[in-house]
Amino acid sequence: MLKIGICGYGTVGQSLISHLEMHNDKIMSNISEEFVVALIADRSIDKKDHRKDIAITKDVMDIPSSSEIDIVIELMGGIDIPYKLITASIKNKKHVITANKALIAEHGDELFQLAEKHNVYFGFEASVAGAIPVIQTLTNNMSNEDILSITGIINGTCNYILDQMSSHDLEFTDALNEAKKLGYAEADPTFDINGMDAAHKISILASLIYKVKSPLKSTYVEGIENITSMDISFAKELGYCIKHVGITNKQNNSIQCRVHPVLVHKDNILSQVLGVMNAVLITGDKFGTSMLYGHGAGGDATASAVVSNLVEAINFSSNKDLRNKIIFKNSGSCSFDITKNNDISSPFYLRIYARDISGVMAEITNILANQNISIEAVTQHEPADLDSLIPIVMITNNVDGLSIDKSITKIESLAHVEGKVHAIRVLKTDDK
Ligand code: NDP
Ligand code: HSE
Repeated sequence: MLKIGICGYGTVGQSLISHLEMHNDKIMSNISEEFVVALIADRSIDKKDHRKDIAITKDVMDIPSSSEIDIVIELMGGIDIPYKLITASIKNKKHVITANKALIAEHGDELFQLAEKHNVYFGFEASVAGAIPVIQTLTNNMSNEDILSITGIINGTCNYILDQMSSHDLEFTDALNEAKKLGYAEADPTFDINGMDAAHKISILASLIYKVKSPLKSTYVEGIENITSMDISFAKELGYCIKHVGITNKQNNSIQCRVHPVLVHKDNILSQVLGVMNAVLITGDKFGTSMLYGHGAGGDATASAVVSNLVEAINFSSNKDLRNKIIFKNSGSCSFDITKNNDISSPFYLRIYARDISGVMAEITNILANQNISIEAVTQHEPADLDSLIPIVMITNNVDGLSIDKSITKIESLAHVEGKVHAIRVLKTDDK
């Protein structure tokens, strides 16, 4: 009988317990040895409803040190304590499962090697895209392919907020509060909003497929904090919606790794990914493009990915299969350059506040023309009164980030332009 220790009894931990109860028969039919949840550790366990037949402790370090526990499931969040807990668990020959993307993005290579050295299972399916089996798909089903690119909506909270702002006219803060209530947001939602959570996820995927060491450090990160209802409605007027995406791809000896908002054309399949849903478009040299779609956050969705790892861990424990050797082989061994964000080309959406004075548009277009930037679409509304500023919105041709930055600096210095120019990349894919 294998004994499980669960560290962290919050949104995901509680959903995991109910999932294990509800699907007990199904899970039992897929595993080679029986298991029981023997210990739950959580610093505020006394404030939570918990099963009285499972032992509890407030000190999570009781779990790696317990000679009883065979499999440790880390569902706390944060980096330092989970790192200490997981390294101690692996060294004590315990199999480990975690949903912690921040930890994997920061210390994945080291933990993979440690797990391989001690011949224990290490699962982290829930760390990227919630219920979607993206890690399993990339490291198993697609591992014989050359993955050319991944473009994904990989933060459920951002997608939920942008969708609520667009479809239900909700204010940013109200939409964020809803996402917190529904258990989508991180304990500290700053990481959702400022793009760090998506950066953790895209860098995990980049390190798995390109075997590059610590791509997080060179990942370009931009969140959704500057997206306004006005941007969303201008984008709609031009036939787009705004999404937050993570992108990684490989060109020659260089990889891109970035997360930021983009305009997505209404005919692009990613524009149909609404609410908390996530979608990951994977392009391989042979299979073309596949899309994985599903619930990207929330207790039940995440617990489902944890359970899939648990079943693997139990079977690994009795069969000692080759999984770790295969999926962690050469981890961190490749030395691709990571392309600087400014070197990457795409069309851009620009929102500029200007006085409605004749000649101002000509000044702006001259600046753009001097950088060889042409305008593909433009929209501007009547000013409310003669003195008021008008937002001018345009979409450019395909242009690199450096040329856009240079133009923006010049546009912002024009006498009749006020404040900062807001620039958002437009997603460039084959279909639109
Ligand atoms: P919660 O904040 O809901 O739960 C975490 C629990 O762990 C809380 O009860 C917390 O106590 C406890 N805890 C945190 N640190 C310690 C510690 N040092 N010692 C003891 N107990 C501790 O988080 P979630 O369940 O939402 O997330 C858990 C993990 O899963 C995170 O890594 C998250 O990024 C990841 N994840 C979450 C998803 C989601 O949709 N929620 C989706 C995918 C991954 P307290 O309440 O006192 O802080
Ligand atoms: N806070 C994360 C999100 C949870 O909203 O996507 C899933 O990783």
